[in-house]
Amino acid sequence: MYYNEDCISGSKEHLKDGTIDLIITDPPFAISGDKLHKHYNRDEKYVIDGYIEIPVDQYRDFSIDWIAQAHRILKNDGSMYIVSGWSNLSDILLALEQNKFKIINHIIWKYNFGVYTKKKYVTSHYHILYCKKQNNKKVKFNTHCRFAPSEKTENNGSALYSDLEDVWIINREYKHGKTKNKNQLPIKLLKKMILYSSDENDLVCDLFLGSFSTAKVARALNRNSTGFEINSEAFNYQINKIETIERGCMFKDLKIPERNVYFNQGKPWSEKDIEKLLTRYGALKKERYSDKESFEILSMEFGRGRFSILNIIKAHKIKNLEDDGKLTGN
Ligand SMILES: C[S@@+](CC[C@H](N)C(=O)[O-])C[C@H]1O[C@@H](n2cnc3c(N)ncnc32)[C@H](O)[C@@H]1O
Repeated sequence: MYYNEDCISGSKEHLKDGTIDLIITDPPFAISGDKLHKHYNRDEKYVIDGYIEIPVDQYRDFSIDWIAQAHRILKNDGSMYIVSGWSNLSDILLALEQNKFKIINHIIWKYNFGVYTKKKYVTSHYHILYCKKQNNKKVKFNTHCRFAPSEKTENNGSALYSDLEDVWIINREYKHGKTKNKNQLPIKLLKKMILYSSDENDLVCDLFLGSFSTAKVARALNRNSTGFEINSEAFNYQINKIETIERGCMFKDLKIPERNVYFNQGKPWSEKDIEKLLTRYGALKKERYSDKESFEILSMEFGRGRFSILNIIKAHKIKNLEDDGKLTGN
């Protein structure tokens, strides 16, 4: 169900505690004036009117209130992605802390069409705060939903590792000559978050639906969805559109990851493999990755289980100690 209501009072009324698997939301940024309209040099007649902005001086309290609702409705193993600009990001960070959310990743979404500036740098990124409830250890995360560890990038790096990095370069959709919301999230971005953080038939909620982008992609990936949009003009336009999307239609074109996660499992380690592993391990430690993180990355890159990696590194450490005479007492 979707509601043409304020998300704070609306969620109190319609959504029960701990019922949502995933929240993806893009609140108004409290940017004064009408700057979003000017954003992409576009023809304003296609932009739906009535976008509701929040006055800057109310933004902190507003953020605290809606994030309190998000915390209440989220399941214990659920997660939330908040897309935010940087101007009032501090209010969102404070509201997350106050409402006992923990940020798992602070993702930078780099997009195209930043507003051209001459006397300062062009802003061409948003922040995405990927969060969980503070006291919960386990959060649903489908590590291999898009790439298997065996898959390579054009430069022969790990495609999975690169997909899991926290800088995402995803273009906005231009939608030339089409009716649109002022600020619309691209399908690619939503697809990525939904696939990693939910399963089919899960319930995905967007508290600020805008053009219903989250709901549309969720439906196309066979997830259920709900949410709120206070602007009647946008709501009435989009509510009919969502029904026209065939449930699960995105699966037709979805890239299926290769299945074999540990593609080198069972193969003997050659001297060269061991040398490569130790060099890469050394590089990761220099970059201050913990042992646990390093083993996970190495496992993906080398296509072997973590224990196999751990054993080689352990053996190497013991050998070094022996060579240094520290184990034999020489
Ligand atoms: C940044 S837009 C969301 C865009 C959306 N993610 C999309 O891809 O189209 C924020 C939306 O929140 C709506 N809004 C503002 N205050 C609201 C409130 N209290 N409850 C529900 N919606 C609200 C605005 O009208 C606007 O459409």
